[in-house]
Amino acid sequence: MSDAGQVSVRLKTLKNNAETKDIMTHVAEDALLTAEELRLLDLDLVLDQVGKDFSKMSGKKLLITGGAGFLGYYLVQAPLHWNVRNPDKPPIDVTVYDNFLRGMPEWLEDLSADENLTLVKHDIIEPLPADMPAFSFIIHAAGIASPIYYRRFPLKCMDANINGLRYLLDYSVAAKGSDTPVEAFMFYSSSEIYGDPTPENIPTPEDYRGNVSCTGPRACYDESKRYGETLCVNYAQQEGLQITISRPFNNYGPGLKISDRRVLPDFARNILAGKNIEMLSDGAPTRTFCYSADAISGYYKVLLSGHSGESYNVGTETPEISIRELAMRVTEIGKRLFGYEGEVIFAKSEDKEYLVDNPQRRCPKIDKARAHLGYEPQIGIDEGLERAMTWYYHNPVAEDA
Ligand SMILES: NC(=O)c1ccc[n+]([C@@H]2O[C@H](COP(=O)([O-])OP(=O)(O)OC[C@H]3O[C@@H](n4cnc5c(N)ncnc54)[C@H](O)[C@@H]3O)[C@@H](O)[C@H]2O)c1
Repeated sequence: MSDAGQVSVRLKTLKNNAETKDIMTHVAEDALLTAEELRLLDLDLVLDQVGKDFSKMSGKKLLITGGAGFLGYYLVQAPLHWNVRNPDKPPIDVTVYDNFLRGMPEWLEDLSADENLTLVKHDIIEPLPADMPAFSFIIHAAGIASPIYYRRFPLKCMDANINGLRYLLDYSVAAKGSDTPVEAFMFYSSSEIYGDPTPENIPTPEDYRGNVSCTGPRACYDESKRYGETLCVNYAQQEGLQITISRPFNNYGPGLKISDRRVLPDFARNILAGKNIEMLSDGAPTRTFCYSADAISGYYKVLLSGHSGESYNVGTETPEISIRELAMRVTEIGKRLFGYEGEVIFAKSEDKEYLVDNPQRRCPKIDKARAHLGYEPQIGIDEGLERAMTWYYHNPVAEDA
């Protein structure tokens, strides 16, 4: 793992930022990576990490459900970038199914002219479109991932993880023996399937069975991911399909909209507005945070070379830091990059259930992904946070419902 000091390409430091008062008007633009530099840096990292496995999809169709979301940002762009970097090979043809419940993101609209990308408005809770083409690869990422939103729409959250998954698995069964069978299928589960692990199960290995409430305010998410995994394992075993499962651990970075209400975009919004960072807890729970480009490399490795019927933790093992420390680190980066002058303050959420069943510690063991897939995160936390804050600087507003 590289840390901030070792990474070859660094953000340039702002000059004379001591006098900076208004962040958005006083940042020296040429001191930051441009949006395009950052995009290419990350996409090249994904291609380097996944390597020749990407060519398994060359000339074939890949379906990404939920491709308009946070992880969709690099999930969709990575194969399109592979096409650009490999003009002599048949391109990967990418289709996104998304209900665009929270709007069509600008980055996806900008890509819509790409002849290897098809965008389809489809709610995965409904039966699949009758004219659905033959897909060789399927990634099921459609779902409601942000706690604020899944507690607002718990039934829709469960339906996407169970009924939506079931439609796609049945589609894969029906394609068996056809000219275009589904060669690989990946379901997005979550580290939340572990609930609040007992201390001896941290770092958490894949074979830990979890400590999860089936009726608490987060259960719609946790339990439907668990049942989704059960469906995948049984379809893999009974139908002989190549189905794998990824369990993401706290990803952050480009694509995670500033309006998402997850912790880092909330901090970024305060910093870019020049306001104090408001913590709605004591900030004690700890997490390891995995930069999105690293995680996307892991997900493509799981899709393209994971063992069928198996689940993989995808995240980073170190450092495990408290939410309070995350806020402090982001504050320091805000000072360095933007001359931010705010501080971290503590408040109470008006939402009584805000912290119910919130796990105290979250930290993965990634030995299995390392051994089976050669997965190894490359971006240290400070470098990742700088890149994320640079992305928020270039994307300070987001469309949202
Ligand atoms: N980001 C993380 O750190 C993380 C952690 C654990 C699990 N996951 C899982 O990974 C997947 C992707 O996460 P994300 O962070 O990109 O989420 P996201 O909320 O940013 O994006 C999900 C996308 O799915 C779409 N969607 C939701 N319901 C749909 C439906 N019924 N039909 C069609 N589209 C629908 C949304 O419009 C959105 O574009 C999710 O399944 C999530 O549960 C993510």
